[in-house]
Amino acid sequence: MCECIFLFGRNPKLSYLELASYFKARELAFKPIARFERACLISFPQEFSAEALVEELAGTVKIAKLLFSCNENELEERISSADLYEGTKNKIMYFIDVINASSSVREFFKDAFKRQKLKAVHKFVAPHILAKKLCEHVDIIVIKNNSKFFVAKTIACSDPHKFRERDEERPFVEPEIMSSVRLARILVNLSCTKPRATILDPFCGIGTVLQEAMLLGYNVKGLELSPERAKRCTENLEWIKERFNTSADFGVKSGDARRLSDYFENESIDAIVTEPELGPLLKKLPAEQEAKQIVSTLQRLYKKFFSEAKLVLKPNGKIVIVIPRFRTKNSKLFTINMDKILHENGFRIFNATENLPIKASVPYLYKEEWHKIERLIYVLEKAPK
Ligand SMILES: C[S@@+](CC[C@H](N)C(=O)[O-])C[C@H]1O[C@@H](n2cnc3c(N)ncnc32)[C@H](O)[C@@H]1O
Repeated sequence: MCECIFLFGRNPKLSYLELASYFKARELAFKPIARFERACLISFPQEFSAEALVEELAGTVKIAKLLFSCNENELEERISSADLYEGTKNKIMYFIDVINASSSVREFFKDAFKRQKLKAVHKFVAPHILAKKLCEHVDIIVIKNNSKFFVAKTIACSDPHKFRERDEERPFVEPEIMSSVRLARILVNLSCTKPRATILDPFCGIGTVLQEAMLLGYNVKGLELSPERAKRCTENLEWIKERFNTSADFGVKSGDARRLSDYFENESIDAIVTEPELGPLLKKLPAEQEAKQIVSTLQRLYKKFFSEAKLVLKPNGKIVIVIPRFRTKNSKLFTINMDKILHENGFRIFNATENLPIKASVPYLYKEEWHKIERLIYVLEKAPK
């Protein structure tokens, strides 16, 4: 058995949901033990490759093996006897990430290294360097939660440069039509679908969701209203296939998501994952009338899309979809009537944490400060026949 702390990025609850969905899809046993402000302690009955896992999960920044947990009065003693460094050098660099506790705990580590006759320099190392050179650094996470201390040693770190490479180096980039590569990967993982299954993005744009799905081992299909974007999407996915040497298949068509069943066979798709058309690009908060108008146009589009999605999805197929919510100048909120759409088309909310001791809620409200539109991330399941 092994206990690890998963340290999350900007959206901890969404990242926890991503992690739970990922394990559930692969039928990997795990047990969440405690949730902290931006981390989670998980126990695994089996060994696993932390390095591979941190690459697959977009919301997890670090995975750290729990060394011990204790009360404050035992902390100094436990640190001094812990296996902080297992290498053979006598000069090392280390960093102690202290969460929710006083930074003075760092002194205990300084003393512990001194006692072990190690010349240890405390230095922050940027994540993209740490990801590559973790074996040369000691990176410790200390979390204080309800007067208990959890001390863990980082065993894998996510490399932000890899996300940037997949975003900026692909042949076509259109930041205004998709949030981020990281969010795209989280959406794919939320689908809780077995690798090698078929994932469709019916509003595929230039293919951010599809590229991340391919890299996670799914075969993908895309549909896009604009023929120009569909072409760009194909070029991006060709680039992904070549650069990352993936065996996943892809196919992109130009067409209308309101007529999905014209392009895809009934019950041929395992999951639909998409950030769809979200309405016009807003430079400032809309007035009430404008927000109502946008919502009513999108309501008609989504209604038609869902009535077609239920045809092409397999029974129990999933939909992960981003639904916009508009905050007006006078702080009123307007969004799509999803209850009605779900009820009419036989979908229910799917929550991978439903039977776990620690739960996350769906839909998840995703906000970015610079963005005028708020987003609700829905995970849905088509009811079996
Ligand atoms: C937010 S962007 C998509 C981002 C994309 N999911 C990604 O991963 O990069 C929305 C896209 O939907 C396309 N679109 C709008 N209405 C459509 C429709 N009825 N059918 C198919 N695509 C549509 C737009 O041209 C635009 O490229």
